Amino acid sequence: MKYIKKKLTIENVKIHDIAKKFNTPTYCYSYSQLKKNINNFKKNFKTFSPLICFAIKSNTNLNLIREIKKFGLGADVVSMGELMMALKAGINPKKIVFSGVGKTSNEINYAIDKKILLINAESKSEIREIDRIAKIKKRKIQIGIRLNPNTDAKTLSQISTGKKENKFGVNEKTFLQLVNYCKKSKNINLECLSVHIGSQILDYKPYEKMLHTIDKIIVKTNHKFKFIDLGGGMGISYEDNSKKLNYSKYNIAIKKFLKKNSSKIIFEPGRSIVGNVGYLISKVIYIKENDKKDFVILDAAMNDLMRPALYGAIHKILPSIKRNQISKKIYEFVGPICESTDKFTSLKKFQKLKENDIIIMCDVGAYGMSLSSNYNLRPKPAELLIEGSKIKVIKKRQKHTDLM
Ligand code: LLP
Repeated sequence: MKYIKKKLTIENVKIHDIAKKFNTPTYCYSYSQLKKNINNFKKNFKTFSPLICFAIKSNTNLNLIREIKKFGLGADVVSMGELMMALKAGINPKKIVFSGVGKTSNEINYAIDKKILLINAESKSEIREIDRIAKIKKRKIQIGIRLNPNTDAKTLSQISTGKKENKFGVNEKTFLQLVNYCKKSKNINLECLSVHIGSQILDYKPYEKMLHTIDKIIVKTNHKFKFIDLGGGMGISYEDNSKKLNYSKYNIAIKKFLKKNSSKIIFEPGRSIVGNVGYLISKVIYIKENDKKDFVILDAAMNDLMRPALYGAIHKILPSIKRNQISKKIYEFVGPICESTDKFTSLKKFQKLKENDIIIMCDVGAYGMSLSSNYNLRPKPAELLIEGSKIKVIKKRQKHTDLM
């Protein structure tokens, strides 16, 4: 994404033209950025060629998942809907892992029938349920157990998952008990130890600590794990000059771990694959003047992009056409929804805007559209995939009639 003759462009397409042709709010994804991210991810860990399972929750668009599949990636799913979508996109079931603390009997049944690679169980009760269903089906099911390594991922508390107070996985004591349970079961084949300590992680040290913890626990189990699933969580830069995750250090820590444990590594990245691939194009409906700041009322709202309202997340905002005049007042970018948290960000010294101007919000490819809702009975935005000068509608805009 860059300005060419003062007009913001994604690949070879001007944002302004997209807005005119497809209307707003609209999500756009850059194919070349997607390709770059996947190739970089593979390159970062090429010495041990991990199985990369794209975290479907970060972006559930069927056509985008189809593109991701073409690079050989598998999928990490957390619900029957996500599993169905991954299969529909043509992902090989032998590359699908199923995580989540509350898989229902129905979901377990479906996953077993589809012969996926691993069900990563997160509690005693869940393992018993898998055991019960597998027995009825006279099958031996490959599972993983998710360990809660009690590691602080040093990220936002709302997206931290690996501390003992979090609901995810089981603690060391339960883990050891469950390994013994699985060893005795005729219907369960324990093949994987899985972890996922959180999301938007920018410091490699929590990963290093997590590997150290796993290492110690594996020794105690006296069990050979065919797979070690390290989850996802690799963070991206949402703001200029923000910290970057040191992949090389993470890679070194894993290689050290693999010297002692000859397992296949699985990753479940979401954000690092699609985060910076997506943009949300929106139009300024009104500018409402106020004492200290002006409200820039957009046609995109918290139902279209929930991250700022939910986590106070920041997404960079850029005007589609660059002009030189700067606003003297602070701009508060808001949506039209009847909630005070329907606010994206406040910016000083932004370029002076007019009603009907087009802006974009950056880095919304992960947990943007997938977290969207129909709150206030607003139809969901369209989604476009851009490759060079080609624009493909990969999801049509919802119509009001779809909602009635
Ligand atoms: N694996 C498991 C088991 C997960 O729970 C998650 C994310 C991932 C993999 C992918 O993590 P990633 O590589 O994308 O960080 N809605 C929040 C993020 C929630 C993440 C939930 N789990 C946000 O908008 O930042």
